[in-house]
Amino acid sequence: MSRSVLIIDDELSIRQSLGGALRDEGYRVQMAASGAEGLEALRADRPDAVMLDIWMPGQDGLETLKQLKAEWPDLPVVMMSGHGTIETAVRAVKLGAFDFVEKPLSLERVLVLLQNSISAQELSRENQALRRQVHKHKLLVGQSPPMKHIQSLIRRVAPTTGSVLITGENGTGKELVAHSIHALSPRFNKPFIEVNCAAIPEELIESELFGHERGAFTGATQLRRGKFDLANGGTLFLDEIGDMSLKTQAKILRILQEQKFERVGGSQTISVEVRVVAATNKDLKAEIARGNFREDLFYRLNVIPFVVPPLRDRKEDIPVLAQHFMKEFSAAHGKPERPFTPEGCSVLDAYPWPGNVRELRNLIERVVILTPENEQGQPVTAADLLDHLKDEAPAPEIEAPALASGRSLRDARQEFEKDFILRTLKEQDWNVSRTASILGVERSHLHRKIKSFGIETSEARD
Ligand SMILES: Nc1ncnc2c1ncn2[C@@H]1O[C@H](COP(=O)(O)OP(=O)(O)OP(=O)(O)O)[C@@H](O)[C@H]1O
Ligand SMILES: [Mg+2]
Repeated sequence: MSRSVLIIDDELSIRQSLGGALRDEGYRVQMAASGAEGLEALRADRPDAVMLDIWMPGQDGLETLKQLKAEWPDLPVVMMSGHGTIETAVRAVKLGAFDFVEKPLSLERVLVLLQNSISAQELSRENQALRRQVHKHKLLVGQSPPMKHIQSLIRRVAPTTGSVLITGENGTGKELVAHSIHALSPRFNKPFIEVNCAAIPEELIESELFGHERGAFTGATQLRRGKFDLANGGTLFLDEIGDMSLKTQAKILRILQEQKFERVGGSQTISVEVRVVAATNKDLKAEIARGNFREDLFYRLNVIPFVVPPLRDRKEDIPVLAQHFMKEFSAAHGKPERPFTPEGCSVLDAYPWPGNVRELRNLIERVVILTPENEQGQPVTAADLLDHLKDEAPAPEIEAPALASGRSLRDARQEFEKDFILRTLKEQDWNVSRTASILGVERSHLHRKIKSFGIETSEARD
């Protein structure tokens, strides 16, 4: 497809010679004899690039450039500077022109600049589209009342700069909420920078957040920009904020108040404009009471609170999420999607999900990967799910709540399985065959389970 260019120059001879040369090179060319005429032409038909003369009577090139950039910030503009206007050309580049060429024009240089400016613009457009795509993949699934509330809150809060604090148990989707806030904000094409406050050793966290000057400490051989620097204009996601030391909390508080800071070992004050989104699975009010978290920082961060409820408190989301993950992993592993039997759905519904959405996601991935050849595309039964739930390797982060209540995750799952079998048996009036077929297991297998769980079998019958 041929490229188009608009030439804005008051000199007829330049318009004609440059226009002719560019046409010969395959460009579609429009011409305008003044800034005003040029802007009008742009409104009628947006070209791929503009060649703009600096010195024109009336509205000059710089003024035209300003108006043009105000309306079409992404449109690449190459300035044409006459003798004695180089300084102005440099100013034009600062105002957003791509570059400039001096008159008399070298066609070769004009062609290179046009080509480069158009490619740069296309790259940046692609980049933006990709960023949108990346974030789109990360949208929150779920239509339960609490999720609907969270989604509407995200839409209302995203366009603002207010600090956000997201709380919720492990694996509930706090990080996803943070991503969504960024993706739906006007900052979507600026950086989203993540800091895991729990993972960074205390003595390194300052350098990580604020950066350090060369020679600030042993091993600091180069200037390093910190996360606040890198997030400038975008969003900084402070994850696991409850695990930050009091000293670092004080520094963060100052940045939030003043939007400026110094690098470690530096004296220069750096100003940044950053939207802060923080997350934690701790109860910060309790941490404040224990003296582990600064109350003033809490109120700074908690301008807009998000509370993501555990999965067991929004059971409507379970089947939708299960389907969603089934689709995702089937596609990723090139396998046919499997529906869930009604009993399979009951297992998902009754299970307490101590690891929340992450645990559900892992379970479905395991089901997809471990589907035997002869069951491809077949419905997922209660037995399949109970089987795979048993295999769940207790991730360290979900061990804590289980241990807190004095049980291991394994025990919790066993207990669940026992409950579930017991309930189905009761529903089926203690008919083992029927229960086995509903659960999708062999009758003998169910008998063994009943025995191993010590379920009172006097009532059970075949
Ligand atoms: N509503 C949702 N829709 C789709 N995927 C979700 C949803 N909630 C969570 N997930 C997925 O579950 C996993 C865990 O979510 P996420 O990492 O956001 O949780 P978290 O609350 O930050 O957990 P942690 O406290 O352990 O850091 C991720 O893979 C995420 O994509
Ligand atoms: Mg997280």
